Amino acid sequence: MNIKDLFIEFFKEKGHVEIPSAPVVPENDPSVLFNTAGMQPLIPYLMGEPHPSGTRLCDYQKCIRLTDLDSVGDKTHHTFFEMLGNWSLGDYFKKESIDYSFEFLTKVLKIPVERLAVTVFKGDKDIPKDEESANYWLEHHISSKKIAYLGKEDNFWAAGETGPCGTDTEIFYWRSEEEVPEVFDPKDDRWVEIWNNVFMQYNRLADGTITMLPKKNVDTGMGYERITAVVEGKTDNYTSSIWKPIIATIEKIANVTYEGNEKSIRIIADHLRTAVFIAADNAGIRPSNTDQGYILRRLIRRAIRYAKMLGIDLESDWEQTIASSIMDEYETYYDEIKNNRETVLQVLKEEKKKFAHTLEKGLKEFSKVIESKKEIDGTTAFHLYDTYGFPIELSMELASEKNIPIDIKGFEEKMNEHQEKSRTASKGKFKGGLSGNGEMETKYHTATHLLNAALKKVIGPDTHQRGSNITEERMRFDFNCDHKLTEEEKQKVEALVNEWIKEDLPVTKTEMKKQEALKMGAEAMFIEKYPDIVNVYQIGNVSKEICGGPHVTHTSELGTFKIKKEEASSAGIRRIKAVLEENN
Ligand code: SER
Repeated sequence: MNIKDLFIEFFKEKGHVEIPSAPVVPENDPSVLFNTAGMQPLIPYLMGEPHPSGTRLCDYQKCIRLTDLDSVGDKTHHTFFEMLGNWSLGDYFKKESIDYSFEFLTKVLKIPVERLAVTVFKGDKDIPKDEESANYWLEHHISSKKIAYLGKEDNFWAAGETGPCGTDTEIFYWRSEEEVPEVFDPKDDRWVEIWNNVFMQYNRLADGTITMLPKKNVDTGMGYERITAVVEGKTDNYTSSIWKPIIATIEKIANVTYEGNEKSIRIIADHLRTAVFIAADNAGIRPSNTDQGYILRRLIRRAIRYAKMLGIDLESDWEQTIASSIMDEYETYYDEIKNNRETVLQVLKEEKKKFAHTLEKGLKEFSKVIESKKEIDGTTAFHLYDTYGFPIELSMELASEKNIPIDIKGFEEKMNEHQEKSRTASKGKFKGGLSGNGEMETKYHTATHLLNAALKKVIGPDTHQRGSNITEERMRFDFNCDHKLTEEEKQKVEALVNEWIKEDLPVTKTEMKKQEALKMGAEAMFIEKYPDIVNVYQIGNVSKEICGGPHVTHTSELGTFKIKKEEASSAGIRRIKAVLEENN
């Protein structure tokens, strides 16, 4: 049995309910591209909302972290990983959390206690030293020399600037052939962090004040790729059993061995795996030049470039075969992989078609330029992007391999000029930002804010947006609510939105500091990681939301708002489907 299954089985035995992984594209959060931690989808419950599955939960959550994208190619970095996690929502706290982690690591995974070390919070002016956790570790015979006390930067965990947070205790493993040192030095990178147990009992407010959460929670996270490599005695994550079949497929297709071609093979394996999970997500992300679509494009195109370097025939079905072997590994765990197999293969094929034949020409162009110019100026970088489909990051990578400078600023200027032109060409239609920003999508986007405000009035002030999805034809809106809306409630909501549309309220945008926006009571999503400066969209005096836009300028542009359907989305979450109809 693999560690993922062992983990779930272990925590189920300890009274936890297994919950499914949330999608990689957060449904309720336009400002974060991907889900980056197991606890992210659980924030409302850590804040105190009762979870329908109870107070003890466990799962493996699909996560994508982009900060590591350019490091992929070495032994340990991945863009996609699964995070194993167990949670207590106001149930057990430090003792059981530490007991469970210790038991799982030493009894189930049979890791010798000598190879383990831990860090705990050393205390500061606000929060006392975490002696309690240290004592539990001592009781498990972790020697006092293997316990390091560290400050907030290491032993305090928060998903964002506001929201649930707390001190944590991190578990480290000695990942080296050399003898385990007697004293734990957290700076020695042969000690790798394998598990993080966060004791979430605080809530950080916008002004930095820390208050107590209604309940004390536990949030733990363990990277599946890393723990598997560790237990299998590998220092190269990509040689663990998780990657074996995928890497064997690539070796076979390219007719090369992993040894000697590690970097290219790791990049192809990692990027195609992440691309598979993005394309399979029910959000329907496709390669494009903005947001998640752009990441998907970058991943596929970088994989194609490395496939070419490995000598793979790009015209062959190589990407189909590799993606299929990836999906074989994951389809029993994820329905969306099983159900969207054909779509994923199609997405990869089409993106390859778009890029594979221009790659060759672009690379030639690149070589020609550096022979004569010894640098890639902005115009050339833009030409590579515009004509040959080179994401700027790809040109940057090529330039750094050749050790020549590239003028990113110049590229951006060219890009802006170009966007300016196409904006004029499309008569003021927006480019960039949210999923497709045609005229209809923009209207629906404004309607989303009105609906959010109307639900607060009709259902109650604690009703918040939990997700939304907009196409040219309709809008979908998820919100927390403990009951099916009555006919009367639905009619009231609809009437209120239409009343505000008729009033032709102005929609205004103000740029301000995030703190200020939150202070003035602008609606903000639980999970969003906002930049320091945000846009607040205000509609008359009925709605104020932090939002990236775009929006219409006056509500009368929306037409007539009609609720088509109201249904359950998941426990405690309702979903409204609505349309805007033109007024005759
Ligand atoms: N939220 C913590 C982390 O991501 C523990 O799950 O490390």
